[in-house]
Amino acid sequence: MKKILVLPGDGIGPEIVQEATKVIECLKREFELDFELEEAHVGGAAIDATGGPLPDETLKLAHEADSVLLGAVGGPKWESLDIAIRPEKGLLGLRSNLNLFANLRPALLYEQLASASTLKAEVVAGLDLMIVRELTGGIYFGQPRGIRELENGEKQGFNTLIYRESEIERIGRVAFEIAQKRDKRVCSVDKANVLECTELWREVMERVAKDYPDVTLSHMYVDNAAMQLVRAPKQFDVMVTTNMFGDILSDCAAMLTGSIGMLPSASLDANSKGMYEPIHGSAPDIAGQGIANPLATILSVAMMLRYSFNKPELARRIEQGVETVLNEGLRTPDIYTQGTRKVGTEEMGDAVVAAIMRTTWAELGGLHEGDLQGIECARGGGISNEID
Ligand code: IPM
Ligand code: MG
Repeated sequence: MKKILVLPGDGIGPEIVQEATKVIECLKREFELDFELEEAHVGGAAIDATGGPLPDETLKLAHEADSVLLGAVGGPKWESLDIAIRPEKGLLGLRSNLNLFANLRPALLYEQLASASTLKAEVVAGLDLMIVRELTGGIYFGQPRGIRELENGEKQGFNTLIYRESEIERIGRVAFEIAQKRDKRVCSVDKANVLECTELWREVMERVAKDYPDVTLSHMYVDNAAMQLVRAPKQFDVMVTTNMFGDILSDCAAMLTGSIGMLPSASLDANSKGMYEPIHGSAPDIAGQGIANPLATILSVAMMLRYSFNKPELARRIEQGVETVLNEGLRTPDIYTQGTRKVGTEEMGDAVVAAIMRTTWAELGGLHEGDLQGIECARGGGISNEID
């Protein structure tokens, strides 16, 4: 039996996680998977319920679980709290306590969405990039940190960018191993012209590269990398970088694909235990309206099946289900373009489930009449039917 801890979190988190859960339930049913789902609080929801962003109970369940599915954390309601107890600390606490040092953020452009990108279609068509972000070190966690008062009464804020060789080496190995299964190119992003810490980063990457002679390593300064991502993003295969640079570059890469609402992520420890989450945030501005795009979270479930449960075939089914609904022209508002059909969060989730089930049943050699009707009902009911 495999345990999945579900942490809906804040803002649109609960809405999108609900759709992803439907997908898990569907696969459980169709493929008799022995998965058990449990739910707990994290982030602002946990602050409201228990006073802190990462309750002991949640952390305990996360340790016990085989993997974690997370929605999003944060929102204006908790912004005035001290930084040490903000919702984001719940997420950061999970990452560090579970040792989830390797954050994989694929930026894949679905060709159906090429026109939804703010960049020209020819710049992004065919984009398939993997950002490997170090997730438990660097300036996010470095000590000392804080805000202190100087002798003259002025305040001074400070953080520490810090990496040891072993931390750089292990994230480097993850990147090289992923590259071996792709186009065999790793671009390491640093600021070695200014920051000693990333000078060491570059040195260690060079050393690690020797163990992967089939992979080509290149280096790029982070400012140039940001520029290249919007200028010619298809030049990249795998990018490996520090915690903060990865945070920034992955948002940028996400937008290339049309919407940040499409991108999943996996955060893995050394044994492939993982936490899976969409890379977008809690989007408080659209929370509760039923219009958030659930696809990034659904695709995060696909990553979970691939990386934590070694079920690439089921992961493919989810990805194909997403492709099918895009082909059918279904779009949440964030990826909507003229000529497609605008649907809400729930409709999108139902449509992916229906697409997965249709494929499965077709393979089994026949659709059951009654079941098929059930699906069509689920898909027809409540859809806004807005066609432009
Ligand atoms: C992300 C987010 C988080 C981060 C926040 C919510 C703490 O931006 O996962 O990219 O900075 O890592
Ligand atoms: Mg971010």
